[in-house]
Amino acid sequence: MIEFKQVSKKYPTGQLALYNINLTLEAGEMVFITGHSGAGKSTLLKLVAMLERPTKGDVLIGGRSLSKLGRSQVPNYRRRIGFIFQDPHLLYDRTVFDNIALPLRIAGMGQNETRRRVQAALDKVGLTGRESTFPLMLSAGEKQRVGIARAMVNKPTIILADEPTGNLDPELAQDIMFTFAQFNELGATVMIASHDHALVERMKKRTIVLQKVD
Ligand SMILES: Nc1ncnc2c1ncn2[C@@H]1O[C@H](COP(=O)(O)OP(=O)(O)OP(=O)(O)O)[C@@H](O)[C@H]1O
Ligand SMILES: [Mg+2]
Repeated sequence: MIEFKQVSKKYPTGQLALYNINLTLEAGEMVFITGHSGAGKSTLLKLVAMLERPTKGDVLIGGRSLSKLGRSQVPNYRRRIGFIFQDPHLLYDRTVFDNIALPLRIAGMGQNETRRRVQAALDKVGLTGRESTFPLMLSAGEKQRVGIARAMVNKPTIILADEPTGNLDPELAQDIMFTFAQFNELGATVMIASHDHALVERMKKRTIVLQKVD
């Protein structure tokens, strides 16, 4: 369960990004976050990923406040989270396999288990057989799917996606959303920020609309 309790976020510039947000997501839920540019969608996701901290209020995961996590516990917490950005930020001098394996290598996983997990992730995003390809040879949709596979390979319990389909044509965008829905069916809690109203409506999930502050 993810809870926002009276959460406000003001950036050091003085910009208020979120004001008094109260929100509860059940474990295993999939929700969309919409709202105009600047409404705070990315900020909301960053608070869950602990890339930012609230200036007021509390974010709780499974009943535990993130503010109580010490610095040394943050990497461990982040390992439970898969974060997908609009631009997948792949390493262009590494193969698809190596890009996806990166989080596992950081976690110190052995070679056989790494290979098994990467293959499973490739299979889930429909890229089986492309492990030796370099990202430059991939289409935008394929690159995005490599980014998704890399975010999933650790089996995160929480998946955060910030405009994951922004650069893709409608058909690919729909495919990517169905991929998230599949991970959700396997038990992950999924939060997706998206501008694409038509696509969000088609997915028939709970939608949270953020209003821009001031
Ligand atoms: N690092 C930052 N420093 C200062 N202000 C920021 C920072 N990040 C975001 N903001 C401001 O906080 C507000 C919310 O930004 P945020 O990026 O969360 O909105 P968003 O809903 O994701 O917008 P978009 O749809 O354009 O991605 C905006 O006014 C933005 O300018
Ligand atoms: Mg944003």
